[in-house]
Amino acid sequence: MPTDPDLKKFAESAFAAIEAAADPQSLEALRVRYLGKKGELTARLKRLGGLDPGRRKAAGEILNRIKAELNERIARRRSVLEEAALESRLDAERIDVTLPARGQRPGGIHPVTRTLERMEALFMQLGFEISDGPEIEDSFYNFEALNIPEDHPARAMHDTFYVAGGKLLLRTHTSNVQIRVMQRRPPPLRIISPGRVFRCDSDMTHAPMFHQIEGLLVDEGVGFADLKGILEDFVANFFEREVSLRFRPSYFPFTEPSAEVDIMGANGWLEILGCGMVHPRVLENVGIDSERFTGFAFGMGVERLAMLKYGIDDIRMFFDNDLRFLRQFA
Ligand code: PHE
Repeated sequence: MPTDPDLKKFAESAFAAIEAAADPQSLEALRVRYLGKKGELTARLKRLGGLDPGRRKAAGEILNRIKAELNERIARRRSVLEEAALESRLDAERIDVTLPARGQRPGGIHPVTRTLERMEALFMQLGFEISDGPEIEDSFYNFEALNIPEDHPARAMHDTFYVAGGKLLLRTHTSNVQIRVMQRRPPPLRIISPGRVFRCDSDMTHAPMFHQIEGLLVDEGVGFADLKGILEDFVANFFEREVSLRFRPSYFPFTEPSAEVDIMGANGWLEILGCGMVHPRVLENVGIDSERFTGFAFGMGVERLAMLKYGIDDIRMFFDNDLRFLRQFA
């Protein structure tokens, strides 16, 4: 340590200031203040030249020692500050792997799709194949070939959406596929046709778009008892219990005789489908010999069955995309 009290004070206050520097910027400012070109210690070194040679050597040695000490203390303080900065950055970026995970919320199959797939699987077990048909259809397949001519009153029941200036329409039922399949292939036929259908209608139990599954079986010697058997089997499988069915005489232009089928629900009979024996005129329309072949057809609403199975009373729930509703089926 220097003996000169003034120099001693200088050195001590510089060391203290370095020790107190709180961040690299103020430390650098101190370095400039003491050791920079115009620094306080630099000035003292420059003044050495004015001393008489006898004192110069000793004074120079002391100043140089202080200089070395300053450099060393600054470097030490710098690494302490850098260490602390790194430490606090690591601290801020730390990931606590022991926190509970956010969890995964995988999506689920939509209840209508789920119901549709189940129905398809059950009919496939009964030997039915799946056939598709167009949703945008012409009136021949949706109506005329099904024995519903232009002026037929049954057309009024269909609330049809017309497109392309009335030349085409959105199919009002999946029965169009019956015709397309029978035109393509000779009997025996045993198909179902699931898909979207459209009617200009909307309330608690009707949506402008909904799904149907059409069934068609054509072969020699097919009778109404076969239709009943297939439907009873399907309904029991679908609801996973014995369900009473009621066949109510009804009318469809493309089946004769025709029936609507109700099942016993919590609040009485509920209609689930329409069906009947394929009308001989429909078979003739597609070139099938109606003396030799007979068949049955049915068409059922997928949403209607899903509503019964899951106890849903408003069909619009299926199409609102409310996750609170949909998650119940995931
Ligand atoms: N296509 C009829 C409807 O949508 C249902 C049906 C299909 C009836 C097949 C008889 C035979 O209402």
